[in-house]
Amino acid sequence: MKINLANIKKAKKLLNKRECIAIPTETVYGIGGNAYSDTACKKIFKLKKRPKNNPLIVHYYDLKNLEADCDLNNDFKKLYKRFCPGPITFILNLKKTSKISKVATNQKKTLAVRFPKHPITRNLLKNLNFPIAAPSANISTKISAVTSSDVKDDFGKKIKYVLEGGKSLIGVESTIVDLRKKPQILRLGGLEVETIQKILKKKISININPSKISVPGQLKIHYSPGIPIRLNVRKIQKDEAFLLIKKNKINKSNYYFLSEKGNLKEAAKNLYTTLRKIKKDRYKSIAVSKIPNKGFGKTINDRLMRASKF
Ligand code: TXA
Ligand code: MG
Repeated sequence: MKINLANIKKAKKLLNKRECIAIPTETVYGIGGNAYSDTACKKIFKLKKRPKNNPLIVHYYDLKNLEADCDLNNDFKKLYKRFCPGPITFILNLKKTSKISKVATNQKKTLAVRFPKHPITRNLLKNLNFPIAAPSANISTKISAVTSSDVKDDFGKKIKYVLEGGKSLIGVESTIVDLRKKPQILRLGGLEVETIQKILKKKISININPSKISVPGQLKIHYSPGIPIRLNVRKIQKDEAFLLIKKNKINKSNYYFLSEKGNLKEAAKNLYTTLRKIKKDRYKSIAVSKIPNKGFGKTINDRLMRASKF
């Protein structure tokens, strides 16, 4: 993707003025603001209608920039070296001297950090003297945005600027791993757990549906397209949209395919766009055929399960 420096300059100017803007990342678009500024972070919560107790992910250019704010342990260093920049978010302990806004963390002593890979956002981050707090660019509990027009559909004129970055390559949010003690996955996402496991060479527990919610991404209702979803469907009801993992010969207008041949990574990438399309096509409900529960299929099933609680 070609980098338009004038756009980046405009984004930088607004962020320096404590405004919030939408930024592209390889996972999904984010609503970004200066993570050191209470004013900017408050604006993010307001725009998203996000509950104040749901802390924000903070995006850094590289490890050097992070050192001032968090304690870095060995597991983090291993994963950083292998996967960053990339679709993984780390939960780390904040340093007492950290400048991160207490609005962003909701006074917590931990921080969710990520190093996005999108070249435009990396260029922007490199040119700022603060990290960017950026939750996904959607209204709280709704579906995330993977293009600039998704963001505009959701926020209209309320958002000052959307930095254009094309369609997000991964299309689902980052995988969240808590590295403060024994590694724990808090959210499935754009990096497979098996891949993380191989690098850490130790057991990673998966804690995505805890009895006590520590991350609102773990909430049962989330990622909702705003219409009912039924899962593992074999036979659809009249007037339902039918979502299938791979293309088949039936060429009906209410059939929507997530991939050509059943590739789960491709399906994850197309998930949110397809759900938005179905809604735009005015269907009142969605039936989903069974999706294999392995690799990226686990992330897809996780999102659909939460979206189906609407
Ligand atoms: O791919 C992504 O992660 C995207 C892009 C924009 O970077 N961001 C994203 O942000 O998905 P958000 O806010 O929609 O999801 C972040 C999740 C939330 O569920 C939040 O509760 C959790 O991370 N989180 C934030 N700070 C945390 C902390 N200190 N401890 C545990 N979970 C935290
Ligand atoms: Mg989100």
